[in-house]
Amino acid sequence: MNESKNESNTEEILNLLFSYMPKIAEERKMDGLLILMADLGRSLVGADRCSLWLIDENKGEMWTKVAHGVDELRIPMNLGFVGHTVKTGESLCIKDAYKDSRFDSRSDQKTTYHTQSVLTVPLKNSEGAIIGVFQAINKKNPPYYFSPKDVEYLSLTAVYSGKTLESALLTKELEDTQAEILNILGEVSEHRSKETADHVTRVAASCYKMACYLGLSEYEANQIRLAAPLHDLGKVAIPDAILQKTGKFTPDEYEVMKTHTVMGHHLLKSSSRKLLQLAAEMAIGHHEHWDGSGYPKGLSGENIPLSSRICAVVDVFDALSSARCYKEAWSEEMVKDFFIKQKDHQFQKELIDILLLHWDDFISEYK
Ligand SMILES: [Fe+2]
Ligand SMILES: [Fe+2]
Repeated sequence: MNESKNESNTEEILNLLFSYMPKIAEERKMDGLLILMADLGRSLVGADRCSLWLIDENKGEMWTKVAHGVDELRIPMNLGFVGHTVKTGESLCIKDAYKDSRFDSRSDQKTTYHTQSVLTVPLKNSEGAIIGVFQAINKKNPPYYFSPKDVEYLSLTAVYSGKTLESALLTKELEDTQAEILNILGEVSEHRSKETADHVTRVAASCYKMACYLGLSEYEANQIRLAAPLHDLGKVAIPDAILQKTGKFTPDEYEVMKTHTVMGHHLLKSSSRKLLQLAAEMAIGHHEHWDGSGYPKGLSGENIPLSSRICAVVDVFDALSSARCYKEAWSEEMVKDFFIKQKDHQFQKELIDILLLHWDDFISEYK
């Protein structure tokens, strides 16, 4: 190869790296990160497909969200070229996969794809431990297999990717832990009452859907999803005799029951964390009605925070659609009728329109 070819190659590679680095640095979501890195790897070595496989220690599997043109895939940890690289830490550069006994052709069979040339390099964290594998498949230009230079380029990308993924994995671990703790807290409050199992989990998922359909940003929708399990936290302060009563409340009992909104707010409001502030807002506002007939403050219209308006719809939707110890689940038609009648009364019209428009998606949790 002459010198000018080498130079243009180097320039091309630098351009690629400079165009991807800022995007990778800004990306906060793991899926997005995996896509960008796979794209970078694919362009660098001229592969048809490229994917980053990460180790899932708990399941003894490797998983990837991205293989170009394919959804999430999972494979046993010790399988195929990827498994070999995880086990040994060695890079592999294979000319014809089907002539190599280590090749596992099941992915090809599942996706009707034909793998020929393969390149795998290990992804390591800052301590040198293997956290995954970078895999490129099918070199697009002659001679249709990867060169030692390609191994070098993908290895360099792997060093950078490994460190970036390590910090993203740590962030994800923290976020997952936070979400789980909030969910457990919410479940504790529901567990004492007459709610069914998983009520808070379903409410959180449906709040997220509603927020997304409304056009809120991914970040805002996710914050609502995380805060939603705490909407009934104040029930921890309601006496068992009332909370677990299966018959109708007396007017006095109902007054006590209604205080779970302010109690929840009280427990959460002193936190300086934005997420818990949002949870406090949802705790106090989720029984307010659009027409001002709700409690505890009798707020109406847009004086009720949007997060609470969303939670109000979803909370009632879940209560009606699932069976409780004191009642059967309502039929789909009955639930639909109820919400249509409550447009502009108990609930904001626009939110009910969204619920009805995406009915199948919301109701799918109950089938
Ligand atoms: Fe409530
Ligand atoms: Fe609830």
